[in-house]
Amino acid sequence: MAHRPSVFVSRQIPEKAIEMLASHFDVDVNREDRALSADELRVRLQGKAGLACLLHDRVSENLLASVPTLRIVSNVAVGYDNIDLTAATRQGVMCTNTPDVLTDTTADFAFALLTAAARRVVEADGFVRAGKFTEFKIDLLLGQDVHHATIGLIGLGRIGRAMARRCRGFDMRVLYHQRHQLDRDEERELGVTFATKEQVLSLADFLSLHVPLTPETRHLIGAAELALMKPTAILINTSRGAIVDELALVDALTTGRIGGAALDVFEQEPQVHPALLGMSNVVLAPHIGSASHATRERMATLAAENCIAALTGQRPPNLLNPEVLIARA
Ligand code: GLV
Repeated sequence: MAHRPSVFVSRQIPEKAIEMLASHFDVDVNREDRALSADELRVRLQGKAGLACLLHDRVSENLLASVPTLRIVSNVAVGYDNIDLTAATRQGVMCTNTPDVLTDTTADFAFALLTAAARRVVEADGFVRAGKFTEFKIDLLLGQDVHHATIGLIGLGRIGRAMARRCRGFDMRVLYHQRHQLDRDEERELGVTFATKEQVLSLADFLSLHVPLTPETRHLIGAAELALMKPTAILINTSRGAIVDELALVDALTTGRIGGAALDVFEQEPQVHPALLGMSNVVLAPHIGSASHATRERMATLAAENCIAALTGQRPPNLLNPEVLIARA
């Protein structure tokens, strides 16, 4: 029998994806319920041709250099800031992600966070559970209206657009900022208006972030940006924690510079700044933007498809560094 390539799966993922991989390759899965350290990952990867990994696995230049057999890194995530793509490309290692399949699920969750923060859903739940609901009160747990409010979207890629559609469904005014303005037809179809970053920051009742984490977007929202926001504004982050300077955010929330925040991602995940834990105007979630049963399974099977294509001589559907193929041709 011809030699079957080996693939390492860094963490338990939906079994359907593991079965797909196992029908082509020898598969080694980290079945422990924890992320591996960099050293453990390096050791387990020895001799492997493929890696299916999650966003907490750092695929560094060092790791790549220590596994010369590696040909594909298949991230089970749309974001790939955990991978040193330049180093991978230099070493001829294909890298893939899982776009599209999680777009609507993530936008659903961003909108859920928005409404939860605006209408104080988490506080209300705690109130009832604590036995404090003794009578209807006209001024109990008053929040902010979502409908007809202004939302600022930073980034209008796939997830940003899906968020814009949800916001338009709630009759919100949607302003957006990103490097490139969409063409007028697209803007009209989505019902969105381009504005400068400063305008978006100062006009938004809600600000939602939808950009990938890159050296350019790290701390895109810092003290100066928070200072431009309305004192009632609510920041929603479902992208990556480091887009926001978390210390500056804690300061802005502590001093009442902004009204609240709804955060699914943090700068030093899984650590959360302790001050955030005590703030009633902050809604917190453990990076679950794409966490529906169907979407997590689809992400894992798409990652398996990418890996299978790469190791069977086909172009992976979500190849991030096609230069690798050109260099080989
Ligand atoms: C999740 O954060 C992802 O990038 O898919």
